[in-house]
Amino acid sequence: MRGQFFATFGLIGGTIVGAIAAPQSELKFKHNNTLWKTLDGKAPKIVGHRGEKAIMPEHTLGSWHLGIIEHADFVEPDVVLTKDFIPVCYHDLSIGVNTDVADHPEFAHLKRNLTFYDVGDGIVHITNDWLGESLFFLVFSDFSLAELKTLRVKHVNVGPKSIRLPYFDQVFSIPTLVEFLELVANVTEKVGYPTGIIPELKHPKYHQDMAPDRPHFFEDLFLATLANNGYPLHGPWPRSIWIQNFDKKSAQYLASKTSIPLVQLQYANADALTYHGLDEIAKYAKAVGPWKQFLVSQTLDVLKYEGVVYNFDNRTLNSNDVTKIASNPELVKEYGGFIPPREYVREAHKRGLQVAGYTYYTSNQPSYRGCETPKGCFTTEDRRDELFYFFELGMDQLFCENNAEAVTLRQEYQDRLTGKHTLSVVDYKVTFGKRAVAEVEARAERVRELYGAGLGGRRFDH
Ligand SMILES: *[C@@H]1O[C@H](CO)[C@@H](O)[C@H](O)[C@H]1NC(C)=O
Ligand SMILES: *[C@@H]1O[C@H](CO)[C@@H](O)[C@H](O)[C@H]1NC(C)=O
Ligand SMILES: *[C@@H]1O[C@H](CO)[C@@H](O)[C@H](O)[C@H]1NC(C)=O
Ligand SMILES: *[C@@H]1O[C@H](CO)[C@@H](O)[C@H](O)[C@H]1NC(C)=O
Repeated sequence: MRGQFFATFGLIGGTIVGAIAAPQSELKFKHNNTLWKTLDGKAPKIVGHRGEKAIMPEHTLGSWHLGIIEHADFVEPDVVLTKDFIPVCYHDLSIGVNTDVADHPEFAHLKRNLTFYDVGDGIVHITNDWLGESLFFLVFSDFSLAELKTLRVKHVNVGPKSIRLPYFDQVFSIPTLVEFLELVANVTEKVGYPTGIIPELKHPKYHQDMAPDRPHFFEDLFLATLANNGYPLHGPWPRSIWIQNFDKKSAQYLASKTSIPLVQLQYANADALTYHGLDEIAKYAKAVGPWKQFLVSQTLDVLKYEGVVYNFDNRTLNSNDVTKIASNPELVKEYGGFIPPREYVREAHKRGLQVAGYTYYTSNQPSYRGCETPKGCFTTEDRRDELFYFFELGMDQLFCENNAEAVTLRQEYQDRLTGKHTLSVVDYKVTFGKRAVAEVEARAERVRELYGAGLGGRRFDH
């Protein structure tokens, strides 16, 4: 799932301290046999964004382990390729921010900038200056797996305040996709419930350029890795599995090869926000994954505010005038118009598509972005309001950080729907904020004992 690319915008979360449940009579929720407005009528799925990123360094065995023991319904890895074409789990194109590569002078000569166009993500610039860091490298195409394995992953702490605990930094190495799959199999067997997986292929077009003479080798390699590790292309699968992709062509190719359900992600690909865009997606995907802000604020406001070069099936790239692109009425009309934010989920459901939103941050995470524009975004204090807003829309999957908190909020929402109180009033008051974080930290300690520096410096992975 994308994130860091628009990190300055994406940090919507909040500190909810001592929020108190409203008396039952004041609730707008009604008893109703149809409790949830999700496509299947069941509780929406909480997806552990890069594992449990609020506590553990993202995309590490510890991060997914913690996500599973927090009862996330799915855990997510992003997948990129190394120079020697091994699928590894990592989000970014650069490895300067998220690893200790700065302490490895032997790699300093690999330092370089990169700019490329990504169909789903828009134009991606990686420069030495990005986020103020001085060292950026490309994970794939520049590093072999053996080289990557000499590095250690650390947290990215963005914003004015550090919220992520540094004491898990430099415990874990960058895991391969195979290690991720093994870890999930091992841990789910131990805990006794089947957490699903939802891998995302990052930047298919970029990867394709690594071997132009082998069309779709990235997708094929990815699927073969799944098939060789317990997830046959046409099932049955040991636990739920979805695949995510921003790139429509790549997603369509995958859909032609496997019956694993697909999420068509949306960010720069603004056609996915239109009526005809959804019609198209319903032909090959089982879910659409818009960036959450598009379901809150008016589409044009978000498009203009973000300033990314938006595209409709790759058709608007030649213009540099983002405002013009965002408000090109003829183009938008051709696609049936933008769906109003609050009607989006209903329109997707009409077409048999689930909706997966991203990313819902921990309430501990400060937002250094105001909510001035686009109007209607959720502020730092609002995690409960934010999740409840999306539950109310009928969202089917939510990519979350601090999964324990998200799972508790989902329970609170369901309690309000049913009129039952499975959480005590005390829970309502204190779960969000200190207690949830303390609990997660205690669980993180357990993971650390299992894998980390707690074992006399022995490292779980090499
Ligand atoms: C229950 O909720 C659903 C979904 O919001 C709605 O369509 C239906 O009319 C409601 N039924 C009753 C009896 O209120
Ligand atoms: C990378 O980009 C930055 C910012 O544009 C520039 O200052 C720097 O010289 C570039 N570095 C390389 C190695 O090209
Ligand atoms: C999974 O368990 C097997 C068998 O105990 C072990 O060999 C393997 O290293 C484990 N892998 C991970 C990633 O947990
Ligand atoms: C999208 O457009 C850009 C710029 O015109 C082009 O370089 C790229 O190859 C196109 N991508 C696809 C998938 O058509």
